Amino acid sequence: MATVLVTGSAGFIGFHLAQRLLADGHAVVGYDGLTDYYDVRLKRARHAILAQSPNFRAVTGMLENADLLRRTVAGARPDIVVHLAAQAGVRYSIDAPQSYVSTNLDGTFNLLEALRASPPRHLLVASTSSVYGAHPPTPFVETDRTDYPLSIYAATKRGGEALSHSYAALFGLPTTCLRFFTVYGPWGRPDMAALKFADAIAHGRPIEVYGHGRMSRDFTYVADVVEAVSRLLPRVPAGEPVHAHDTLSPAAPWRVVNIAGGAPASLNAFIAAFEAALGQPARRTLLPMQPGDVAATAADVSLLRALVGDVPATPIADGVAAVVDWYRRDWARLQT
Ligand SMILES: NC(=O)c1ccc[n+]([C@@H]2O[C@H](COP(=O)([O-])OP(=O)(O)OC[C@H]3O[C@@H](n4cnc5c(N)ncnc54)[C@H](O)[C@@H]3O)[C@@H](O)[C@H]2O)c1
Repeated sequence: MATVLVTGSAGFIGFHLAQRLLADGHAVVGYDGLTDYYDVRLKRARHAILAQSPNFRAVTGMLENADLLRRTVAGARPDIVVHLAAQAGVRYSIDAPQSYVSTNLDGTFNLLEALRASPPRHLLVASTSSVYGAHPPTPFVETDRTDYPLSIYAATKRGGEALSHSYAALFGLPTTCLRFFTVYGPWGRPDMAALKFADAIAHGRPIEVYGHGRMSRDFTYVADVVEAVSRLLPRVPAGEPVHAHDTLSPAAPWRVVNIAGGAPASLNAFIAAFEAALGQPARRTLLPMQPGDVAATAADVSLLRALVGDVPATPIADGVAAVVDWYRRDWARLQT
């Protein structure tokens, strides 16, 4: 049994990962500031479920609180740290750039400083497919250049990757950066398409469809993400590259890996899955692409496969059906 510090444990992916870690017999310390970027009741409800396990302990605190972070790390002495807390969202980063710099850069720096004093066996840092930015046609390979971020969100996440490399090089902190691609599933974020679509279609409201529905995304079901991340926990970067695309640093125990199913779909296909699961047609308001968005994302997952074996890939129809089940069961209750 390991002690795992999960930052962002009240968030969408952090909640699912913490549930899995607890089920696997680990002790989890969850560090989360419960920010009001979206409905805090959802975050509290996720933490309340985790708190049913005696092996879960929540610390409510901001990444910007360097002292609390340092004391939390020193007290817990985690074997593994999974850093998921972030200010997420591409579009919001146009309106509120300061919170991205503060959380994703200053906050990540504070965590790295705390870990420098009490180093874990392995640090895993959430990054995003957005770092590929103005990239030529997909799929995105980890060795591709990431010099042209199109959003402030992407720039701060790329900065977090770079910062973690310098800590790995200077202080030998073994680090894996996880480039997630559009994650969806039950208990998802209200600012993301899946929950917005479910809610609007169920109520007969029009949905906003950007890029006229022709944009495509490597939609990745959250349980598949959790499976991939939990298999990566013991894969501490070291030794020889495992694949031609391996980003294992020549100077540090550090690599970056795409986390995705590798089976992209159009936004229109994603919406069609919601129509089928809800048994209702969607009313579409077709809109152009938003600033900061990219037309298509698709992951090359051969490095992930070389590291952890075959990547689970839940079909969109099944994943969307699970979202709709959750939406019908829990979402309305959380709104009251
Ligand atoms: N969901 C996706 O599709 C997706 C895709 C790519 C990358 N990511 C990355 O994965 C990670 C998890 O994303 P998510 O979808 O679970 O997001 P989320 O917003 O649901 O979770 C993030 C959590 O971090 C906490 N947080 C935010 N700012 C904080 C701060 N300054 N101090 C302390 N806590 C703070 C929030 O309260 C929240 O609970 C993030 O790093 C995100 O950038 C997510």
